[in-house]
Amino acid sequence: MFVSLILLWLCIWFIIIQLKSRRPKNFPPGPTALPILGNILQLSLENPLKDFERLRKTYGSVYTLFLGPKPAVIISGTKAIKEAMVTRATEFAGRPQDLFVNDVTQRKGVILADYGPSWKEHRRFALMTLRNFGLGKNTMEERIHGELQYTMNTLEQSIGKKPLSPQMMFHNMASNIICQVLFGRRYEYDHEFIRVIVQCFTENAKLTNGPWAMLYDSFPIIRNLPLPFMKAFKNVETCQKLAVSVLTEHKKTRVPGEPRDFLDCYLDELDKSINGSSFSEQQLTMYALDIHFAGTDTTSNTLLTGFLYLMAYPHIQERCQQEIDEVLGGKHQASFDDRHNMPYMQAVIHEVQRVANTVPLSVFHSTTKDTELMGYSIPKGTLIIPNLTSVLNEEGQWKFPHEFNPENFLNDQGEFVKPEAFMPFSAGPRMCLGEGLARMELFLVMVTLLRRFKFIWPEDAGEPDFTPVYGVTLTPKPYSMKIQLRETQQDGRQTHNRDSGE
Ligand code: HEM
Ligand SMILES: *[C@@H]1O[C@H](CO)[C@@H](O)[C@H](O)[C@H]1NC(C)=O
Ligand SMILES: *[C@@H]1O[C@H](CO)[C@@H](O)[C@H](O)[C@H]1NC(C)=O
Repeated sequence: MFVSLILLWLCIWFIIIQLKSRRPKNFPPGPTALPILGNILQLSLENPLKDFERLRKTYGSVYTLFLGPKPAVIISGTKAIKEAMVTRATEFAGRPQDLFVNDVTQRKGVILADYGPSWKEHRRFALMTLRNFGLGKNTMEERIHGELQYTMNTLEQSIGKKPLSPQMMFHNMASNIICQVLFGRRYEYDHEFIRVIVQCFTENAKLTNGPWAMLYDSFPIIRNLPLPFMKAFKNVETCQKLAVSVLTEHKKTRVPGEPRDFLDCYLDELDKSINGSSFSEQQLTMYALDIHFAGTDTTSNTLLTGFLYLMAYPHIQERCQQEIDEVLGGKHQASFDDRHNMPYMQAVIHEVQRVANTVPLSVFHSTTKDTELMGYSIPKGTLIIPNLTSVLNEEGQWKFPHEFNPENFLNDQGEFVKPEAFMPFSAGPRMCLGEGLARMELFLVMVTLLRRFKFIWPEDAGEPDFTPVYGVTLTPKPYSMKIQLRETQQDGRQTHNRDSGE
């Protein structure tokens, strides 16, 4: 009897301590959390978007949610996000290290690396290598145009046949562009390397946002059980094996000091083997996979959204084509610099990025020291979720926050302007390091394809559905498109083809 009383008292005491200690002083508000379980029972695990919306309305632009025993602070709106990511920059530039995704990627690579020397060195290396391989120079443009030839062939072959489903096409294109930087080669669309990697990535992206990952994050006890999340570890192993085989091949054929691609550059760096450098071969394969993933899914989903809207709004598509014809005239192909003469096209691409909302909750951050935000105190090591959606459609920041309208990026004179709430790449020290490449891809791909083809929503496909499929990256629902060659286009390619008797 006495013992049970003591036990009961201990339990109650434990619960009280739990409740007390878990909400630090002056912490952002949020719904009352249960001990151990946190707020997890208050959320729909399949698609918590509705719940989040309700919470934001109740608690404002900075609120707390307990995922199991750990608090997460969700930041919404331009003002709060700018304060965190830009003004307080490094204080919010960490990454959580105890989540499902960290275990899956073995704490290697750059995207999920915590703020510190290894992240800094790898980020600097990636930016430098991307630049050296022709970002801003012509070589990267040539690579994109080279890959576009394959895309255009795919599109041409579909003319007069049944509508084409563009998912795989855009995915493979984006993948090949980044593969050329990383591995110095492209892959045929049915090549095993790409097929397997794409399959693994897609599965892992869905798992990462799914209910099993949330349970994994909330309850460490279950982490070694044979539950569905184990598939993610297997997938990474499969990809690693493929990456290692490419690396082995590179080591055999490389000439030190004459790098052909990203892998060679990194191997050169390893040769120098500076004391205490964070570079290592174990890092390299995951690092390359990291960048491949970051550069593929994002770009291809943005393009998919773009062509969906351009088919749904044919008058906007036509206006783009008019501008393209006027500016390019008889020029052989578009160059990235042409964007300065294409304010409407620029506005459309940016508006596509705004509504595509490709990475809705950014990549999760964490605080690197005790800090403050909008008057609340946030301790070191707190999980931070930047709600980029809330910025991209924030009322007061946009002329037309809730509709697809390029006017959001045009002033009264029809000139292109970029409002400060345009943050699809996030902001601050962790901002997307592929922004330059991504913007070049979006421009050259959309301009080149719109110049040559007309994209038509199939008559029998019902109304276009703009609701995205929820995930780390948002994906439009699968759709098909009807392709026609444009008659008015005057580019060199068609004349050339005719000459060669095609
Ligand atoms: C439309 C295309 C893209 C979008 C919308 C996009 C968006 C983002 C966002 C929101 C983040 C998180 C930033 C943060 O944590 O605050 C990010 C990070 C990152 N992105 Fe992109 N991205 C795109 C294309 C690319 C491409 C083409 C590459 C490859 C070169 C790339 C490489 C990365 C990397 C490596 C990071 C991690 C940076 C770090 O943690 O320091 N992204 N991206
Ligand atoms: C992010 O903001 C959008 C728009 O304000 C909202 O619908 C969504 O529920 C928010 N997500 C979270 C996690 O707070
Ligand atoms: C390498 O590091 C050690 C200690 O970490 C140091 O004593 C040594 O001088 C360093 N060597 C070079 C070449 O920097």
